[in-house]
Amino acid sequence: MKCCLLLLLLAGRAFASPAPSTLSASTLIANVAGRTTVGLDGAWHAIVDPFDNGKSEFFRDEKPRSKGDRVEYSFDASPVLNVPGDWNTQREQLMFYEGPVWYRREFNYHKRVNERVFVYFGAVNYQAIVYLNGEKLGEHEGGFTAFNFEATRVLRDGENVLIVEVNNVRRADGIPALKFDWWNYGGITRDVMLVEVPATFIQDYSVQLARGSQNEIAGWVQLNGAQGAQGGQKVRLEIPEVGVHETVTSDAEGRATYHFTAKLDLWSPAHPKLYDVVLSGGDDVIHDQIGFRTIEVQGANILLNGKPIFLRGISMHEEAPFREGRAFSPEDAQTLLGWVKELGCNFVRFAHYPHNENEIRLADRMGLMVWSEIPVYWDIDWSNPATLAGAEAQLRDEIARDHNRAAVILWSVANETPVKPERLTFLTQLVKDARELDSTRLITSALNHTENTGTDERTLSDPLGDVLDVVGLNEYLGWYGGRPEDADRMQWKSKWTKPLIVSEFGGGAVFGRHGDANEIWTEEYQDNLYQRQLGMVERMPNLAGLTPWVLMDFRSPLRLLPGVQDYHNRKGLVSNRGQRKLAFYTLQKFYKRLAEAGK
Ligand code: GCU
Repeated sequence: MKCCLLLLLLAGRAFASPAPSTLSASTLIANVAGRTTVGLDGAWHAIVDPFDNGKSEFFRDEKPRSKGDRVEYSFDASPVLNVPGDWNTQREQLMFYEGPVWYRREFNYHKRVNERVFVYFGAVNYQAIVYLNGEKLGEHEGGFTAFNFEATRVLRDGENVLIVEVNNVRRADGIPALKFDWWNYGGITRDVMLVEVPATFIQDYSVQLARGSQNEIAGWVQLNGAQGAQGGQKVRLEIPEVGVHETVTSDAEGRATYHFTAKLDLWSPAHPKLYDVVLSGGDDVIHDQIGFRTIEVQGANILLNGKPIFLRGISMHEEAPFREGRAFSPEDAQTLLGWVKELGCNFVRFAHYPHNENEIRLADRMGLMVWSEIPVYWDIDWSNPATLAGAEAQLRDEIARDHNRAAVILWSVANETPVKPERLTFLTQLVKDARELDSTRLITSALNHTENTGTDERTLSDPLGDVLDVVGLNEYLGWYGGRPEDADRMQWKSKWTKPLIVSEFGGGAVFGRHGDANEIWTEEYQDNLYQRQLGMVERMPNLAGLTPWVLMDFRSPLRLLPGVQDYHNRKGLVSNRGQRKLAFYTLQKFYKRLAEAGK
């Protein structure tokens, strides 16, 4: 009797419901695009330091004071790297470099009274340690989320020296971990700026429709001010176009909440309506362009603004078209999302990490719904609390940056992760965190474990699906197993009546390589695979959307076939030179047919 009690207890622990979240509030300043900023992009002197030799001194940026002075490094004499930008595509000898690089940016600044200044980074891959005038401001981990540090106290009136040690070494306890199918581009990969705010300012806010309502706006404003200064403050929310002028008062923690009704034009792909929203609180006033829409699940349907919608999508990496490397600019976003629109999509999966804000904001304006994901990818260190904390921080900061974007409808907590208890506990915790951080969006993950439940039958039953709103399925029938024509017979089953998104299928082809449909790496092979897959997915139960793999060929250290891959994943429908492959038109035709059928 006692022994089975013990067994029960152990079992209880193995599958314990997730512990209360240890998540601290995000310190990210929301909507920097709507603030007063000083750009620090440009050419930064950089020291490539493979053995991290500079750890204890480079942050001081010392210079010889006399002829006999021995200083064995010099930013002045070191070549520059462009910021934003990965270092790999800026210098041939850095293409494969993984390690520390020290960046220095000198700038002149005129301080103003009653003003606070933060240094803001759009993203740095992977780890960043930030120093200003020789003082450490802070450190950040995770290559795809924004962060900022307050610099007010350390900032000088006049010459300032900002130094960042960047290290993109992969780590077994990292997010992602040691192995992933994209290039480990290192560097300060997105914009850097000084953000100037008043003594008490609006740190973050949420202005969205209440869950399930099309005319109730529910949300909050978080002020950041000296203790005591942020309480009892008047906070105003205005949407001039629809006559909304709401005033509320902040509590002692600087938090103000509101709930009111408004008659709004709802955001949708056909009508991506954004309103100018004005928030004022403390000494701060900011504008944002926000769309209002509801997104929910009903049985196997995804409802946008209360109506079922089919997600005609594509997956894409944040790889720059034509020049390659990390994409970051509005022009990169325009080109990539222009191709997405040309395919006839109303949806895009930003794989496998939070993409830059230019893409998200353009999707908002273009009317493209977005699947956003954190890089919990393949196998990671599931039982390591530090790894969980790292994943939670990336999820928190992803949501902190984009939670006011109507375009974002899905938060994905992981991609293709192994079915095992510690993984289930880890991801169930992340799903819980995501719901706590944002109750207005749907939670998903891309699953790839299915059971063979018959000759030509597969069943999706990964236990993680139990806690998701929408299940994503990555299947590579006809590429990583079987032949393209096997899709003609394959039957799929799902354990749930939840919406299913086929989040990946696909095959590789070299643009311009032609042959018959059985010849691998030809456009005809890829096209044949697409035709069969599209026929198959239409027969899938609960199908609510698709994001085939992948929009554009992208660089990957796992793709080594000379003359074919050359360190590129060739599953793109567009080559990295913007050339459309045959399958591009097959998917375009398929989406045209769906759209004409009202799907
Ligand atoms: C996986 C994975 C992708 C990868 C793709 C491929 O499913 O999610 O990141 O690039 O398959 O093998 O091409």
